[in-house]
Amino acid sequence: PRKIILDCDPGHDDAVAILLAHGNPKIELLAVTTVVGNQTLEKVTDNALVVGTIAGITGVPFAAGCARPLVREIENAPEVHGESGMDGPAQPASRIVLDERHAVDLIIELIMSHEPGEITLVPTGALTNIALAVRREPRIVERVREVVLMGGGYHTGNWSAVAEFNIKIDPEAAHIVFNEKWPVVMVGLDLTHQALATKEVVQRIEKVGTGPAKFVRELMDFFAQAYLDHQGFDAPPVHDPCAVAYVIDPTVVRTLRAPVSVELRGELTLGMTVADLRAPAAEDCHTSVAVDLDHERFWDLVVDSLERIGEV
Ligand code: BDR
Ligand code: CA
Repeated sequence: PRKIILDCDPGHDDAVAILLAHGNPKIELLAVTTVVGNQTLEKVTDNALVVGTIAGITGVPFAAGCARPLVREIENAPEVHGESGMDGPAQPASRIVLDERHAVDLIIELIMSHEPGEITLVPTGALTNIALAVRREPRIVERVREVVLMGGGYHTGNWSAVAEFNIKIDPEAAHIVFNEKWPVVMVGLDLTHQALATKEVVQRIEKVGTGPAKFVRELMDFFAQAYLDHQGFDAPPVHDPCAVAYVIDPTVVRTLRAPVSVELRGELTLGMTVADLRAPAAEDCHTSVAVDLDHERFWDLVVDSLERIGEV
């Protein structure tokens, strides 16, 4: 299996990403780390522990990371994820004890103690922890297999006309991560807006009939309403598990190699991920952007994970 560190800010879709990663036999979850984003660090960390409990995850460290972006003031997204950051389902008490290490230390420790090429980083929140890790220990760049991140987009935004939330709330961190020479796969809005939890999808999840599936169903109900009210979507785009799905089976997500730069100065474009799609990418281009999702097979993976997790 592919060893991953999931760095997240649960978050309805982050929760689904955790469940997908935990349930799929092709993934070995080495750690779940958290970063401020959808809500405060405290809230998203509590949420991660709750999801881990619901999924029945044991023996995997959960560690909290940065409580604010590198340069900017904190921006959360209560309109999308509610006051708790994961509104909707009832949340049981967590049975997981938070690791004492800082997420940045844990990330570095894990990467440096594994063979080069073994670990894939899967950030599904702002890139603050990853950026700090790379500054603190630059040798992680050549040891990480690839960074498969949910964030950005090459033709649309959601936190401004052209910028996506995870990038926009900490653009300097994103700039650092995109500029290091490790392979970066940007699973952005172009792709994740295809990952809609339609009525049929929600029915499939419901049919699994277990506690964890019911939890996902209730998450999707809240998420659907939020996306309808605030962005006019008929069904909510479930962004974060798309990055995990790419790691499980890259044929589910078609990608295109292209240089990507993060805008740090634009008056209207701050946090935009500018992809240069004009010509075939140069040989040494280390970034790619996700383009097409196989909707059916993506949701097959999510349902399959829930079935394997079963009743916890
Ligand atoms: C991203 O922002 C967050 O609200 C979601 O969890 C996802 O990671 C989508 O723009
Ligand atoms: Ca997220």
